[in-house]
Amino acid sequence: MRVLTIIPTYNELESLPKTLGRLRAAVPESDVLVVDDNSPDGTGQLADSIAADDKQVHVLHRKGKEGLGAAYIAGFKWGMAAGYDVLVEMDADGSHKPEQLPLLLTAVKEGADLAMGSRWVPGGSVVNWPLYRQAISRVGSTYARIMLGVKIKDVTGGYRAFRRSTLEALKLDDVESVGYGFQVDLAWRVAKLGLKIVECPITFVERELGASKMSGNIVVEAMINVTKWGLSARWAKLTGKQDAAAKRA
Ligand code: GDD
Ligand code: MN
Repeated sequence: MRVLTIIPTYNELESLPKTLGRLRAAVPESDVLVVDDNSPDGTGQLADSIAADDKQVHVLHRKGKEGLGAAYIAGFKWGMAAGYDVLVEMDADGSHKPEQLPLLLTAVKEGADLAMGSRWVPGGSVVNWPLYRQAISRVGSTYARIMLGVKIKDVTGGYRAFRRSTLEALKLDDVESVGYGFQVDLAWRVAKLGLKIVECPITFVERELGASKMSGNIVVEAMINVTKWGLSARWAKLTGKQDAAAKRA
């Protein structure tokens, strides 16, 4: 299996080299694609200099900050065009321990179409994550589970390994959400296709360097979208018609 780990970055100058070093040591067979949105702090240039010394590291430069979702979609397209079999999502800030990536890759090797790192299954945990963030994550996940009828416990989580065929089955160009919403959107689409999703317990460690890019707007966007998708799927069930959201999957 050819594995590509995609790391989106926006102002991760301090964190990126540490995370990259740990990833290359923990899973040397994985190639890496850094997707940088023209970070003002020079993360993109730093990634270029690392890539110059390591032919398994690649960098995709984007014009400006367009959000996590757009960065990942560009990364997925790059990776699929380059022929990778498994495409991994990983944060640059060390919250997703590179040492736990083998858990996700093993799940895919054993048949998962999507392996998700999960904080909210037995064995999963969070370290140093502020209580308000834990609350948003738990409430958001529960709300999405009820609204969308998905069984995934950590539906906003961003540590994932997709089998290539899973991404091929999704209409990536229709995905427009930016933050947590993007993660929920993708997981829901995969669930609707009836593909096999496995949640693997992970330890999510709050970043030590730099700042989170999540904002109130991103949370609000996710809540509005989940409500919209959920209501539209219910309406479709009631009327027997296929709704716009269901068609998109
Ligand atoms: N290229 C790009 N463009 N990268 C971005 C952007 C963007 O607009 N916004 C964020 N990132 C990158 C960050 O640089 C980091 O590598 C990663 O995306 C995650 O961003 P954080 O700002 O560290 O997110 P978080 O720690 O608050 O949120 C985490 O938990 C969420 C809830 O589970 C992440 O794992 C999210 O993916 C997850 O949804
Ligand atoms: Mn983070």
